[in-house]
Amino acid sequence: MLAHFRLRDVIQLLGLGCLVLNRSPIAAARVVEGRDQETPTSGRQVIKLDTDWRFWHSFENPDGIAYDQLKAYILPGANDFIADPSDHHKRPSSEPNITVRYADNKFDDSDWETVKVPHDWAIKGPFYIGDDVPVGGGMGRLPVQGVGWYRRKIIIEPSDTDKEIYLDIDGAMSYAIVWLNGRLLGGWPYGYNSFRLDLTPHLVAGKDNQLAIRLDNPTQSSRWYPGGGLYRNVWLTKVDKTHVGQSGTYITTEGVSSSSATLNLAVTVENKADVKRDIHVSTDVYKFNPETGKMGRKVASFPRAAVSVSPGQNVDSSSSTIVKNPQLWGVWTSQKKPNMYIAVTELRTGGNGKVIDTYETRFGIRTFDLSSKGLLVNGERVRIQGVNQHHDLGALGAAFNVRAAERQLEILRDLGVNAVRTSHNPPAPELLDLLDQKGFLVMDEIFDSWEIQKNPNDFHLIFPEWHEADLRSFIRRDRNHPSIYSWSVGNEVGEQYTEAGGTAVAQGLVDIAHDTDPTRPVTASLNYAKPNMTFPTAFDVISLNYQGEGIRDTPAYSHLSGITTYPLYTAFHEAFPDKLIEGSETASALSSRGTYIFPVVDVNSAPINDTSGGNSTSMQVSAYELYSADYGASADKVFAGQDPYSFVAGEFVWTGFDYIGEPTPYYDARSSYSGIVDLAGFPKDRYYLYQSRWRPDLQTAHILPHWTWPDRLGEVTPVHVFSSADEAELFLNGKSQGRLVREQYSYRFRWDKVVYAPGELRVVTYKNGKVWAKASVQTVGNASRLRLAADRSSIRADGDDLAYITVEVVDSKGRVVPNASNEITFDVAGAGELVATDNGDPADFTVFPSKQRKAYSGLALAIVRAKAGKRGPIIITASGANLKTAQVVVKTR
Ligand SMILES: *[C@@H]1O[C@H](CO)[C@@H](O)[C@H](O)[C@H]1NC(C)=O
Ligand SMILES: *[C@@H]1O[C@H](CO)[C@@H](O)[C@H](O)[C@H]1NC(C)=O
Ligand SMILES: *[C@@H]1O[C@H](CO)[C@@H](O)[C@H](O)[C@H]1NC(C)=O
Ligand SMILES: *[C@@H]1O[C@H](CO)[C@@H](O)[C@H](O)[C@H]1NC(C)=O
Ligand SMILES: *[C@@H]1O[C@H](CO)[C@@H](O)[C@H](O)[C@H]1NC(C)=O
Ligand SMILES: *[C@@H]1O[C@H](CO)[C@@H](O)[C@H](O)[C@H]1NC(C)=O
Repeated sequence: MLAHFRLRDVIQLLGLGCLVLNRSPIAAARVVEGRDQETPTSGRQVIKLDTDWRFWHSFENPDGIAYDQLKAYILPGANDFIADPSDHHKRPSSEPNITVRYADNKFDDSDWETVKVPHDWAIKGPFYIGDDVPVGGGMGRLPVQGVGWYRRKIIIEPSDTDKEIYLDIDGAMSYAIVWLNGRLLGGWPYGYNSFRLDLTPHLVAGKDNQLAIRLDNPTQSSRWYPGGGLYRNVWLTKVDKTHVGQSGTYITTEGVSSSSATLNLAVTVENKADVKRDIHVSTDVYKFNPETGKMGRKVASFPRAAVSVSPGQNVDSSSSTIVKNPQLWGVWTSQKKPNMYIAVTELRTGGNGKVIDTYETRFGIRTFDLSSKGLLVNGERVRIQGVNQHHDLGALGAAFNVRAAERQLEILRDLGVNAVRTSHNPPAPELLDLLDQKGFLVMDEIFDSWEIQKNPNDFHLIFPEWHEADLRSFIRRDRNHPSIYSWSVGNEVGEQYTEAGGTAVAQGLVDIAHDTDPTRPVTASLNYAKPNMTFPTAFDVISLNYQGEGIRDTPAYSHLSGITTYPLYTAFHEAFPDKLIEGSETASALSSRGTYIFPVVDVNSAPINDTSGGNSTSMQVSAYELYSADYGASADKVFAGQDPYSFVAGEFVWTGFDYIGEPTPYYDARSSYSGIVDLAGFPKDRYYLYQSRWRPDLQTAHILPHWTWPDRLGEVTPVHVFSSADEAELFLNGKSQGRLVREQYSYRFRWDKVVYAPGELRVVTYKNGKVWAKASVQTVGNASRLRLAADRSSIRADGDDLAYITVEVVDSKGRVVPNASNEITFDVAGAGELVATDNGDPADFTVFPSKQRKAYSGLALAIVRAKAGKRGPIIITASGANLKTAQVVVKTR
C-alpha cells in the first residue's frame, strides 16, 4: 500500500494515454498580460471575459428548464475525465425539443443588469430574517436560490477562423448550462469545479456570437453559503487547432537533492484539425518569481520530441531532464523560500518549424515524506499549523478576488499558519497560486458528500454520474502545485456509517485519485469512523475531525446528548502504525470578537448555553476563548490532546476566518463563530493564543478581557493572558495579582479571582527567567472620534485591486472604545468606490454593500475598489454622530 509516500521514489507512471488536461489559469493570465502580446505568433491567446455581461435572476424557474431534462447533452462533457471508454456518454442525435428564449440571439437583454465577472448574485442581500424563510442560517440567509442567466457577446476576428476557441470557466454556482448562438453546448453541475467547453463548431466570424449561461441554485443544497453565479473567472482561449490540451502538462520530480533533481514531464498534444499533424514538442525550464511574474535564467531543457497526432486525438509526449543545484520550494515557517520554476512548452509544426502553441506550467521542486513520523518537507519535519478555510471572502461573498484572498493569507501568516485545507471543495485556481507563492502547505479537498446526502439537494444527487469526472478534472487542474501535499476526497461523509459499502465507495475514489496523480497520498476526514472499522483502511493518511482530542468526553460536556468519543490519536496510531495522523478539523472553538460573558467557566473547555458562555438573544458567544461547539473543544483542550503524542503531524483548526453560513450555535445569525479571525478580518483574542504556540520566538503577550466595565465595580472579572512565555505576573493598578508559572499542557495564564476596579491591567511575562514581553490595557473614556487606517497606501487602478480600511472608535486619548457600536457612515470620493462594509458581528443583518455600518466591539471595515484606469487619490471619509470625522487617502497606480 501507499502508506509511506515518497515523492522522490515515484517514477513517471500514468499510462492513461489520451488525457485532456486543464491549463493553469494564472499562467494563462500571464500570457494575456505579457508574453503573448510580445510574441503574437506563439498561437495562444487567453482573454479574460470579465466585463460586458448581462445578468438576470429569478427566484422562480423562469424557463421551465431542469438539469435532468438536458443532462444527456451535458454528460458528454465529462468524457475526457472518464477512464473507461465504455462509460463514455453519447450526445443524443437530435437537439433538445425545447425553446429557450434567454439563449436566443434575438432575445433583447437590454434591460438586464450589466455586471462584471467574478460575480455573486446573492451577496448584496438582503438577508432573510426569521424562521420561515427560503434560505436559513446554514446557507447564510442570503438569496442564493433560483435561476440566474448571464449573456455576453463574443468577438471572433477573421484571423481566428482557423483557430480552436474554448470557453474556460473556473467555477459557476451551479448546474451551469451553456448555449452559443442558440445551440446547447454542455455544462457542468458541480459549482466548485473548473470546466472547458469547445465553442469552435458554432462560432461565426464577427461580433455577434451570443453566449448564454444558465445557473440554477437549489435550496437545501449546501451546509454553508455557496454564493450564486459566475463567481470565478471566465476565459476565452484561442489556440491553433493543434495545441497543448486542457491542463495538458504534468511535471513530477524524483531523485531530489541539493545538487540535482530529475524532472519528468508529460505534455498532452491535442489535435482538433481534420488532418494528421506532426509536431515537435520542446520545453525549457526557467527560474520563476511568482511575485513579479518574471522569468529568471534558463536552468534546463527537456529533449525535443516528435509526435504524430491523428485528427481528433490526444497524444502524450513524455521526457525527462535534470536540474543541477535545484532551489527547493519550502514552507515559510521552516525559513525556507518557496522557490518556483516555470516550464515553457512550445509546439512546432514538423514542416516549417513555426511555433503554433506556447504553454506555461509553474511548478516547484521539493520532496514530501508522509509517515507516522509526521510530514517531512525536503527531509525536514514541518509541523502542520493549519486552518480550514471556506471559499467565501466575507463581505465580498463568493466572488473571487485575488487581493482579498492574498489579504487573508497575509493575516494567517502573521498568526503563524503554514497550511490550508480547502474545506470542502475545489478552490479558485488563483488561491493555489498564492499558496505556492507564499509557502503554505495545502490539503486540496473536493467533496462534502458522496452517495449519502447531508442535504436533500446536495452533491449526492449527481455523485453517481459525476464523481469520476469531477475528481479527475480537479486533480489534473491542480497537480502541478508544489504546495499540495495531499488530496482529500471527502469530509465527514455518511459512508463512514455503512462499513463495507462505504469503504468500497472510498476505495473507488482513492483509486481514481492515485491513477490521476500517483505522487500524492489521498485522505478523507473521519469524524465518526473508528480504528477498528474498515473505512479508514481505504486512506493513505488518517485525518481526524475532533476525534483526536475527544468529543463530549469531559465533565463539562457530560450533560449533552450525542456520541461521546474518547481521544483517539493513540488508538489510530496503534491500528495504523505507519500512517501519518493529523487533525483535519480541530477545535470548533466559538467566540464573538470582543464580547465577554460572565461568569467564566473554570475548566479549559466547555459547551455554550444561556447560562454559560453564550446569549441566544443577542447571538453572541463569550471571547474568553474557552467555549466550543457541542462536538468541539477549546484550543487549549486541543493542544493538550496533541502534545503528549509526537506522532501527531499537526492540525487544521476549524476555522481560520469566520465564513458566511453555518452559524453554530445560533442559526438565527448570518455567519460563523468559529474563526480565529472574524468575518471582517479582525483578529479575535484566540489569534494570540495560536500565535503564541505557532510562533514561539515572537515576544507576545495579550491580555483579555478589555478593562472598561463601569457596571462591574467590585465584581470578580477573570483576566487571562496568551503568551509564548513560561511565567507571567499580572498587576492591577500596580498591585500584583500573582506570578504564575505555565504548567505542562496548559496554554494560558489565568487569574480568575481578579476584582474589577477601573484603571490599568499590566502583565510582565518571562521566559527562562528573563523578561520576555509586556502588555497593558486601560479603562477608556467615552467615544470621541474615529480613526482610519488603510492596509496599503497605494493600489493598482485596474478595477479589481482593493484597499481594506479599518475604522476604530477611540476616546479622547486615542484608545479604542472596546464596546463601541456607533453607526458610521463611509464616503468614498476620487478614483475609487465603496464595495462593501462589515464589522465581524455574526448577528449584523445590515446588507454588505451598505455605506452605513455600526461599529462592533469598537471596529468596522470598509472595502474600497480602485476604478479601472482612473488615476489619482481615493479619499475615504468616515463620520458618526458626536464623533470627530476621519479621513484617509489611498493612492492609485
Ligand atoms: C421532448 O423530449 C422529451 C425527452 O427529452 C420527450 O419526453 C418528449 O416527448 C419530447 N416532446 C416532443 C414534443 O417531442
Ligand atoms: C470497535 O471497538 C469498539 C470498542 O472500542 C466496539 O464497541 C466495536 O464493536 C468495535 N467495532 C468493530 C467493527 O469491531
Ligand atoms: C450549561 O453548560 C454548563 C457547562 O458549561 C452546564 O454545567 C450546565 O448544566 C448547562 N446548562 C444547561 C441548562 O444545560
Ligand atoms: C442577552 O442579550 C440580550 C440582548 O442584548 C440582553 O437584553 C440580555 O440581558 C442578555 N442576557 C444576559 C443573561 O446577559
Ligand atoms: C461619558 O458620557 C456619559 C453620558 O453619555 C457621561 O455621564 C460620562 O460622564 C462621560 N464620561 C466621561 C469620562 O466623560
Ligand atoms: C459600553 O459600555 C458603557 C459602559 O459600561 C455603557 O454605558 C454603554 O452602554 C456600552 N455600550 C454598548 C453599545 O454596549
